[in-house]
Amino acid sequence: MKMGLVDNKVAIVTGAGANIGEACAKMLAAQGAKTIVADINLDGAERVANEIVGSGGTALAHAVDLGDETSIAALVSAVMEKFGRIDILHNNAANTGAAQMTRDAALTDMEAEVWDAAFDVNTRGTMLMTKHVAPHMIAGGGGSIINTSSGVSLLGDILNPAYSASKAAVNALTRNTAAQFGRANIRCNAILPGLVLSPVARAQMSEAQLDMIQRHVLLPRESVADDIAGAVLWLASDLSGFVTGQIISADGGICHHQPHYADMMDMMAAAPG
Ligand SMILES: NC(=O)c1ccc[n+]([C@@H]2O[C@H](COP(=O)([O-])OP(=O)(O)OC[C@H]3O[C@@H](n4cnc5c(N)ncnc54)[C@H](O)[C@@H]3O)[C@@H](O)[C@H]2O)c1
Repeated sequence: MKMGLVDNKVAIVTGAGANIGEACAKMLAAQGAKTIVADINLDGAERVANEIVGSGGTALAHAVDLGDETSIAALVSAVMEKFGRIDILHNNAANTGAAQMTRDAALTDMEAEVWDAAFDVNTRGTMLMTKHVAPHMIAGGGGSIINTSSGVSLLGDILNPAYSASKAAVNALTRNTAAQFGRANIRCNAILPGLVLSPVARAQMSEAQLDMIQRHVLLPRESVADDIAGAVLWLASDLSGFVTGQIISADGGICHHQPHYADMMDMMAAAPG
């Protein structure tokens, strides 16, 4: 019988009703995890869970609003009632809707409610999920918590200061979580995607914008959601059993080179001989 990397572990993935979270839930399920597909968009969560079950995996769709602690507590109770333990928590969801991100721009125009809406879901939601799941992991002998952060938590940009700051706070929370729960055999790490385009996001970007960004990716292709899912699977599995408190980029190197990289590559390509 083929063994999966996370056979019979119980995994919650938030924001799993679309895009990166969907890919992560599907990969964990394909590797044997009983996977809870949690999302504020229940239709999306149900579609993903049905597809997992249709491929022979085990999945449960559940609605959750990460801005609401009661909703988070209800999700965790439902998982414990159904499966009796939680081994893997992937805090993937973020408040990334167009209405939020377009208003998260110039600091001089920043509305406090836009700032709060980023932190409510991205940071406070991650903390509250950890608060409610960790006691069950401790009782079960340990677990792995993976927080999805972002490359923009490391670098300055002209857009999305609330989002960037909320993700930098996720990095700090990751290290605190690892420190607080390490002796309970709970590992906690953050994964930092670069640019992973959903069909909707791709439609909103010009070819010139995409080219400009892609010139700074060190690897010769665009990132896909499975690039993140693979890293999350590794962090969820015992293969990364001694890795904790780490802030790990899975971004093709876009945040890890000299600022003049793309221009230098162009100059070298143009150089004679
Ligand atoms: N896509 C990228 O290029 C990129 C880059 C860096 C980091 N990230 C991070 O990766 C993660 C996934 O990104 P994505 O592009 O797949 O995002 P997405 O917007 O496509 O999906 C996010 C999911 O979270 C859900 N969600 C939103 N608010 C919620 C709430 N309050 N409660 C529960 N669920 C909620 C949405 O319904 C959606 O299904 C996010 O944390 C994002 O910040 C993405």
